[in-house]
Amino acid sequence: MTESPSRFIRDGIECEEVQSARRLSESLLWTLQEEYYASQSLNAWERVPFYSTSRMMFVGAIAELVNSFLLDCIDEFDPQSPIYILELGGGSGCFAYRFINHLKELMGDFERLKKLELRYILSDFTKSNIDAHLSNLRLKPFFDSGELDVGVYSPENDTAIKLEVSGALLERGALKNPLLVIANYLFDTIKHDAFRVVDGSLQETKFALFREVSRQSDSDSDRDGSGSRLSGSDYDQDGSDARRTNPTIQEIRMSEVYSDLELPYYRDPHLDSILHFYRSELSDSSVIFPIGAMRSIANLSHLAADKLALFVSDKGFASLESKQVLGLRTQEFAEHGAFSFDVNFDALQRYVENRGGNALIESGDHSSLGFMFATTWKPTCELTRHFFRQYLQKRDICNASYNLEEFTFVGCEKGQNFVRPYLTNFISIVQSSNFDPFIFDGAFARLFENLVPELTEMDLEQEHEVTDLVGRTFRNVFNVANDYCDLAAIFEFCMCWQKYEFCLALAKEANASLGVSRKAFDYAAIASEHLDRREDAYEYFRQALELEPDHDWAREGMERNKPQ
Ligand SMILES: C[S@@+](CC[C@H](N)C(=O)[O-])C[C@H]1O[C@@H](n2cnc3c(N)ncnc32)[C@H](O)[C@@H]1O
Repeated sequence: MTESPSRFIRDGIECEEVQSARRLSESLLWTLQEEYYASQSLNAWERVPFYSTSRMMFVGAIAELVNSFLLDCIDEFDPQSPIYILELGGGSGCFAYRFINHLKELMGDFERLKKLELRYILSDFTKSNIDAHLSNLRLKPFFDSGELDVGVYSPENDTAIKLEVSGALLERGALKNPLLVIANYLFDTIKHDAFRVVDGSLQETKFALFREVSRQSDSDSDRDGSGSRLSGSDYDQDGSDARRTNPTIQEIRMSEVYSDLELPYYRDPHLDSILHFYRSELSDSSVIFPIGAMRSIANLSHLAADKLALFVSDKGFASLESKQVLGLRTQEFAEHGAFSFDVNFDALQRYVENRGGNALIESGDHSSLGFMFATTWKPTCELTRHFFRQYLQKRDICNASYNLEEFTFVGCEKGQNFVRPYLTNFISIVQSSNFDPFIFDGAFARLFENLVPELTEMDLEQEHEVTDLVGRTFRNVFNVANDYCDLAAIFEFCMCWQKYEFCLALAKEANASLGVSRKAFDYAAIASEHLDRREDAYEYFRQALELEPDHDWAREGMERNKPQ
């Protein structure tokens, strides 16, 4: 490798240095990350995966865990004061919407919980996401009832949060009850450090950033905001590294430099004792260290006056024998518009326990989701532990259901081998997904040919069951990134079932509760046509055309139903 101050050749490709080697948590990467999310707002979810932590099986599992915790700690709660559930990095808001509905339903089964007043706070570090949630019609009933509030909150930096709707300031001393915190795919997104243990010595891994010059010019012609770009002033903040170039996350490459380190490193005994442990217990290992998550826990614990319960779901590893740790290897991030690192749940558990709390972790070693349930004090949590152990650890229901979905869809595609009745299969698939609209859509599309003839042959009992199933699935629809596929599948199902009144009612409800959409007007129009309500059909087709002026099908519909 030949090297000049800013340009060098690596693997035969000309590269440019973006930032010299430094501690990972001090890297420009995190500025790029924040800029990406702040600039993309809700459009981020066109590229950043969200399905895994928004699907109904996952929502159901976290709601069960929280419900168990409420039952466990019922005697610790003051029913005269609200119990806050704070979601960090809430992203699209889909999880929040589905979770509130689901938890309310679960709590309704327990007389003891009815006296509790819950407030859900959907937070994110960027105001643009919060503003979008405030105008989301699906969330509006919860804002109106006071069950939901939103706030800008950066857990690595803040120890208080101002709520946008109620105006309340949540800070230390203001909470009368323990604070429940949910973090889904957040700790993999915020700051990390990295270390290696080599021959019994601890090394700090520093990261230099560079980019391939050819890639830079490729992407210079594609400046449509699909990747984060540093502004000149941000990039100049570090005088020695100032470059007049604007890297995106996609362009960034990392190289590592190692140097021996002495403890204490963080000058925080809760953190340094973990490094001590790693130095004494590991040999030839590479350790990513979730320092952002740990700072977040410290800040949240302060806010909650040390009564903090954490429900964390993330990709990562729990065992120090996992492939992410063993051996001297380079750290890598996954790029998906933004980027993410694997979360070291082992370090998180040790950190919580060092602070006097308890933590249960589930190995995400061979799957996309790992879990931690932690409290910064030591309440008796029998039911929560039971659910965690039986369902998240032993049966690993979130990851198992994810894999089963794929398996089921492959089965559906080979539908001719399915045993009749297809309707029973369809009902089972949707029920076992916990009424997930995406699964409804996928199963309906794949079973369509064989299923549709059966829809009009249902007995009364099945009619009730399917009505309930469609209603529940519809309630779970939450459009992310303007994707109306799930909604269209439900309408189409009702049309094939020849339930035109039901389809019409759902289409009206969709326009009212999700915002007006061409799809809802389309189906309201054809349902009205089937019901021989020509004037209504004409009007719905007209409204569909108004939303999409080159929608020829709606124009033809208007022509067919034109008032005489
Ligand atoms: C991968 S997304 C996860 C979103 C959502 N929880 C989910 O599971 O779909 C990461 C979230 O973290 C937020 N985020 C990014 N950088 C952050 C930071 N420095 N502090 C707090 N949140 C951040 C983003 O706005 C985004 O909502």
